Amino acid sequence: MSKERFYITTPIYYPNANLHIGHAYTTVFCDAVARWHRFEGKEVFYLTGSDEHGQKVERAAMEAGKTPQEYVDGIVAGFKKLWERLDVAYDDFIRTTEPRHTRVVQEIFQRLYDQGDIYKDTYEGWYCTPCESFWPEGRLLEGKLCPECERPVELVQEESYFFRISKYAPRLLQHIEEHPEFIQPETRRNEMVSFIKQGLEELCVSRTTFDWGIPVPFDKKHVVYVWIDALTNYISAVGYLQDDETFDKWWPADVHVVGKDILRFHTIIWPCILMALDLPLPKRVYAHGWILVESGKMSKSKGTVVDPNALIDEFGSDAIRYTLLREMPYGQDAKYSRRGLVERINSDLANDLGNALHRSLAMLSRYFQGVVPEPGEPKDIDRSVMELAEATGRQVAERVEKLEVNVALAEIWKLVGRLNKYIDETEPWTLARDPERRERLATVMYTVLEALRIVTLLVTPFLPRTGEKMWTQLGIAAPLSEQRFDNLAWGGLAPGTQTQPGNPVFPRIDVKKALAEEEDMEEKTDANVEAAATQEPKAQGDKAGAEDKANLITIDEFAKIELRVAKVLAAEPVQGADRLLKLQVDLGSSQRQIVAGIAQHYKPEELVGKSIVVVANLKPAKLRGELSEGMLLAASDGDGLSLLTVDGERAPGAEVR
Ligand code: MSP
Repeated sequence: MSKERFYITTPIYYPNANLHIGHAYTTVFCDAVARWHRFEGKEVFYLTGSDEHGQKVERAAMEAGKTPQEYVDGIVAGFKKLWERLDVAYDDFIRTTEPRHTRVVQEIFQRLYDQGDIYKDTYEGWYCTPCESFWPEGRLLEGKLCPECERPVELVQEESYFFRISKYAPRLLQHIEEHPEFIQPETRRNEMVSFIKQGLEELCVSRTTFDWGIPVPFDKKHVVYVWIDALTNYISAVGYLQDDETFDKWWPADVHVVGKDILRFHTIIWPCILMALDLPLPKRVYAHGWILVESGKMSKSKGTVVDPNALIDEFGSDAIRYTLLREMPYGQDAKYSRRGLVERINSDLANDLGNALHRSLAMLSRYFQGVVPEPGEPKDIDRSVMELAEATGRQVAERVEKLEVNVALAEIWKLVGRLNKYIDETEPWTLARDPERRERLATVMYTVLEALRIVTLLVTPFLPRTGEKMWTQLGIAAPLSEQRFDNLAWGGLAPGTQTQPGNPVFPRIDVKKALAEEEDMEEKTDANVEAAATQEPKAQGDKAGAEDKANLITIDEFAKIELRVAKVLAAEPVQGADRLLKLQVDLGSSQRQIVAGIAQHYKPEELVGKSIVVVANLKPAKLRGELSEGMLLAASDGDGLSLLTVDGERAPGAEVR
């Protein structure tokens, strides 16, 4: 039986697009969906590419002193490099300047002309050169300015070829009605339907005012204008008019993923061209929203374009992939901020995912020399983890099928959260102290490691590098690339597997350093340090009074001490200091590092997840070279030391009085 197939595309990018994280979003999104479908055992074709013709490119090349071809060659090499750095595993990259594409465009143009769907006429309209768009007079801004870039438009009269798009409008409306899944999300479908119902103007499909395009085969004065050239990449890449077998295998595409600004072209112009060619329509066209920055859409002139290459250099590709995929809700816009990125890395990747693996492997090393033990009879609490792990696989599959990738990730992180909680609840460190509970410890540790194996399989399509690292640390011999959806079944981890603990898969980011340029953060930090610095001498100066002699303080003095609930996110020994542990704590509005002399009383993994009490306004200090921003409270007597923890659930940052 032949495998089910899945064909997914991104838009093809303009060489003058100056690729930013918005473009990276589409490509990474399609990559994650494509990888997931491969994981499900399907044969996948993932297409991306470049849209290289047009007047803007011609001009940019001239300004750069290059031929258009030289100019686009350089830029497209940069596109490919970026996709490689983001681990985008496309199956083909189509360039509209390749003969395999230009030939097909010419044949299509000829055929549509021969059958009377393309005709010659004169076009008069208001044209914006930078945007390469004609605008109806009614849409121009005052002073005859382009409604998009606000620059002057020109009245242009030009002999052009036109495509009789209106002829196909009734069929298109019928198709949309009969295939509600065709345009997604649904709100956009309604927009498209009302646009079609207003009546479609015939489409200008050739230009004579520039040369950098595919010549119209029967009239060399003209070049094919943008949409027939660009949209047909989706069929030229899979063998249309070149290789029938390949074409029949892949067409129609399962989904075209596009940004909301080009949905109209993909759900109106493109289907009409396909109908004229007697070809089936793509099964789905999904429009995602935009990635916005604080000031709105990223703009070159405002200098708000976020360069994905710089972010990869700083944080690594998986951190960028995760943040983009997790932040963008289905069909809606998402705000990007550096703070949001750093917080996602620290909370979801370093604390939740990285720490689950790190602490589990550390415990396995300590209790079982790093070898996965044979589990005993599971208890209800173990079964709850098994059931959630299995259910999560099904949930992720459903969400990815619906293109709700952000929700799919949230489902995986629910499992990660449950796993961390399971460790806190079962307390392997307590079990380890009792030799009679060795079998129970083995069951708990097996449950933890097996859940981590499943988490690894689930995250890999989204975070391929992290998946590889986790797989290596789990020590599983079978190659990760050969794992499929069926391997998600509980029990796949063989007892006896020797794990290979390594470095944390996501090191924590020093928030202050990473956000040093962000003004508000600087202000906050300064205020804290200043407050701490001014309090200390004052407290000492007050010591003269009689009450001080009796060691009494006033309520006002006590009020100066800011006590807060802090949740321990991570803990590890301080190199070369037997007594010290380094804790990363969540204080609600911020995260900090606290160094404490408790190593002889607590193991790092016992601390994670605990809600402790800290002095939050202590002047920062360095202990053995490690910054400590606060002090935790603990009770000690001759027998030992116990941390002050909070009874019941209190949010991190809650004030203690
Ligand atoms: N060349 C055309 C597409 C032709 S497809 C047959 C084009 N190219 S583009 O380079 O300008 O844009 C490519 C894609 O990037 C579009 O889907 C667009 O919506 C998307 N994005 C551009 N800026 C974006 C954001 N800020 N956020 C998310 N996507 C964004 O259009």
